[in-house]
Amino acid sequence: MAFPQGFMDELHARSDIVDVVSSYVALTRKGGSFFGLCPFHSEKTPSFHVEPGRQMYYCFGCKKGGDAVKFIMDVENLPFPDAVRLLAKRAGLEVPEEQGNRNELRQRQRLLELNREAARFYHWLLKQPQGSAVRAYLERRNISWRTAVRFGMGASANAWDVLLKAMTDKGYSKSELLSAGLIADNKKGGFYDKFRNRLMLPVIDTRGDVVAFGSRVLDSSEPKYMNSPDTPVYSKRHILYGLNLARKSKRPNIILCEGNLDIVTLHQAGFDNAVASMGTALTLEQVRLLSKFTKELVLCYDNDNAGQKATEKALQLLNESGLSVKVLQLPRRRTESGELVKQDPDDFIKNHGPDAFERLLNGSENGIDFRMAQTAAQFDLTSDEGRVAYCGAVSELLSELSGSVEREVYTLRAAETARVDPAAMRLEVQQAWKRRVQKENRAAIRKEVNPTLRLQPKERSMRYENLRSARAEEGLLRLLLMDPSLFPAEAPLRTEQFSSPLLGRAFGLLWDARQQGRTPSLGLLSGTLEAEEINHISGICQKPESLKNGRQALTDYIEVVLQEWDQRQGGSCADPLAAAIEKNKKKGTGGKRNV
Ligand code: UTP
Ligand code: MN
Repeated sequence: MAFPQGFMDELHARSDIVDVVSSYVALTRKGGSFFGLCPFHSEKTPSFHVEPGRQMYYCFGCKKGGDAVKFIMDVENLPFPDAVRLLAKRAGLEVPEEQGNRNELRQRQRLLELNREAARFYHWLLKQPQGSAVRAYLERRNISWRTAVRFGMGASANAWDVLLKAMTDKGYSKSELLSAGLIADNKKGGFYDKFRNRLMLPVIDTRGDVVAFGSRVLDSSEPKYMNSPDTPVYSKRHILYGLNLARKSKRPNIILCEGNLDIVTLHQAGFDNAVASMGTALTLEQVRLLSKFTKELVLCYDNDNAGQKATEKALQLLNESGLSVKVLQLPRRRTESGELVKQDPDDFIKNHGPDAFERLLNGSENGIDFRMAQTAAQFDLTSDEGRVAYCGAVSELLSELSGSVEREVYTLRAAETARVDPAAMRLEVQQAWKRRVQKENRAAIRKEVNPTLRLQPKERSMRYENLRSARAEEGLLRLLLMDPSLFPAEAPLRTEQFSSPLLGRAFGLLWDARQQGRTPSLGLLSGTLEAEEINHISGICQKPESLKNGRQALTDYIEVVLQEWDQRQGGSCADPLAAAIEKNKKKGTGGKRNV
């Protein structure tokens, strides 16, 4: 949604970037700017940089940057409108909301408040004498009090209307309790608490709102878990249990499991990047949500048949997501009688400890077991042809392993699977490995000798088509953002004359703002451009540029852009500038180079 300009200007004026960032990052002053440890990636020496002058931040390590609103978007993982609302609250500004949405918004707000009150109440009960059965259950499952508090756990009473009474006393109506899924209708005009005598697990979304509840029985009766139905504030397709905590993790990926209590145990053991799909199949909406918070997903489903199937299904869904995916295969456990039994992450941590899980996590680097099994399944290993083809495919896979011992271990296993001589298999893998190393070296060298590759934005959609022009376009934007007084009175370029659509759009936005009497700044871009685009433009602002002779530099940049534009239009005359002027004249713009 678009917020009124006046409001946005006021918000920027009242949200100083150093102030805003300081509530999340300890900053040290160095000259005119501030440095700190980047909140977006793990680091030991500060590469995170805040500039009060241009009201921007930029991390030289992970290359995130932008204005105060973009910082909140990044650090709180919020969409633009929510980041604006949060900053406004902080600045004590009222947000002008769209009228039509007011009622619906109000209703949702009530339900969220009700859920929060209910969660508080369940948590309070957990500490009362009535909570002793649940407390004993927590103890049996080795869940510490600290963990219980971190997850906001609670207890529902062994009675029919305890929550109903407590919430109606607080002014919530039965119809509100019904639509939150907290009570049910007994069809005889009465109502009763839906959750009774259970361990309560509030489901909290990434904004920190309590949107639903999961709950577990304390014994072996059925149903084991009972969850809130979909409500106006909860759609289970869109939520992952534990993501409210996992999104703040400094670990490099997110671990996806099946069960709520798997997550609890993993977090308690230090794996604070675990989330659960709560027993249901992973959805596209959840994948999209995950990709906002991580680039790498580790699938850690149960090691039974259902878990295998779920893993395959999830892999299919994730195939086109752009997330890199690894599979953490939990081993089955051998009992004293020699039987192999299923383990979920919770069992595994209890049986083998966090270090063993960490090792699995590192070993899941490439999901090698799983992928080897998948590769084997693709070929008919009873035929000679199938075995040969399998050897080719599996050696490619094994060549990705960087440790030589690891490579040897799996090579032996592959040889066994294909029933070939280990020495032959070893040779095959070695050759595949050599090919890979050569290819990687060539790519590294290309990058080294070709500095233009470094100029290119990371994202394919932002790639520069014309590097000479793009460099000048970058310079122009940088100058105008450094010193808005350099803006000429007339637009020196039209947006379509930029070779990079992104830089053209950014220029257009700055120019329009300037025409409306606002100060052109990075902050004007955050509502319109994508996060990756703002990161890129923040990076452009960090490249060296001298303000000495700023006006001349600006003129030079503009000339380059016009020359290149003219080239692209098919003009190939000796004096491209003259040609540009000529062209504009023909269009009846009075011979001005500018429009
Ligand atoms: P599991 O049956 O694998 O249970 O269900 P679990 O997580 O190992 O549970 P514990 O360790 O016995 O407590 C996996 C997930 O499926 C959902 C829950 O979210 C559960 O965590 N589930 C399971 C339900 O929603 N309803 C059920 O009746 C069972
Ligand atoms: Mn379990």
